[in-house]
Amino acid sequence: MAGAVIAVTNQKGGVGKTTTAVNVAFYIAKQGKNVLLVDFDPQGNATSGLGINKQELNRTVLDAVQDGMPLAECIIHTKYKRLDILPATPHLANAEVELAKAQQRFTRLKTTLQNHTYDYVIIDCPPSLSLLTVNGLIAAHYILLPVQAEFYALEGLGQLLETMQLVRKGLNPTLELLGVVLTMVDSRTTLSAQVHEEVKKHFPGKVFTSVVPRNVRLAEAPSHGLPVGAYDRWSKGARAYKSLTKEVMRRVEG
Ligand SMILES: Nc1ncnc2c1ncn2[C@@H]1O[C@H](COP(=O)(O)OP(=O)(O)OP(=O)(O)O)[C@@H](O)[C@H]1O
Ligand SMILES: [Mg+2]
Repeated sequence: MAGAVIAVTNQKGGVGKTTTAVNVAFYIAKQGKNVLLVDFDPQGNATSGLGINKQELNRTVLDAVQDGMPLAECIIHTKYKRLDILPATPHLANAEVELAKAQQRFTRLKTTLQNHTYDYVIIDCPPSLSLLTVNGLIAAHYILLPVQAEFYALEGLGQLLETMQLVRKGLNPTLELLGVVLTMVDSRTTLSAQVHEEVKKHFPGKVFTSVVPRNVRLAEAPSHGLPVGAYDRWSKGARAYKSLTKEVMRRVEG
């Protein structure tokens, strides 16, 4: 298998994209694969979530996508075996403006990743359907879609699926929805169960069996700069992401 590139995306804010990207990347590396986590959000939450001090960075994803600096010179080896990150800072927001004027503005990230040697690349997208997100979708083989278990869960997803179709008709015909993961599930409420059913109806065959519960350890871990598996490996959140990761890998590797 040539390394799979997976974009974690949903233009809605705060649905668990970064939490999913960081923790799935962590557990794939644990499973023995080489993983690159690409922080493609100017908020840089995936970067700080892995304990990296953004003030101390010499190179970021911006140098790679904007100036064509080699990937190897921009990544950081994390303290976790087989897990590298291409970090981001708020400067990435400049890329939106600069890239909009640039040649090949849609394929910058794809070009950055073209000779990578990882088994998996996980892209954490920003909460928008911006040029950055489109770059993510064009660079990716798969979309991993986190959906928050709330009343308005499906609202706005039409737009994302339209964007996905446009990308498929254009620069990335083989882009595929890998799956939908329900996040922040509160098993005590019937609402979560209703949303789960609704999402399954909307995405037949695509919803992962593993759901991510609302779990305080998942919310705490990034403030310690740790993936949840390193912060509290027996927490419900950690176990959910471990089991989700196995499903993700099974779908990719068949
Ligand atoms: N399952 C969960 N249980 C409890 N808290 C969670 C869970 N998943 C995420 N959180 C917390 O909710 C907030 C939003 O999560 P996260 O940053 O992963 O979402 P996001 O979609 O990446 O947000 P943004 O759109 O701003 O990039 C964070 O503070 C995170 O720690
Ligand atoms: Mg995020």
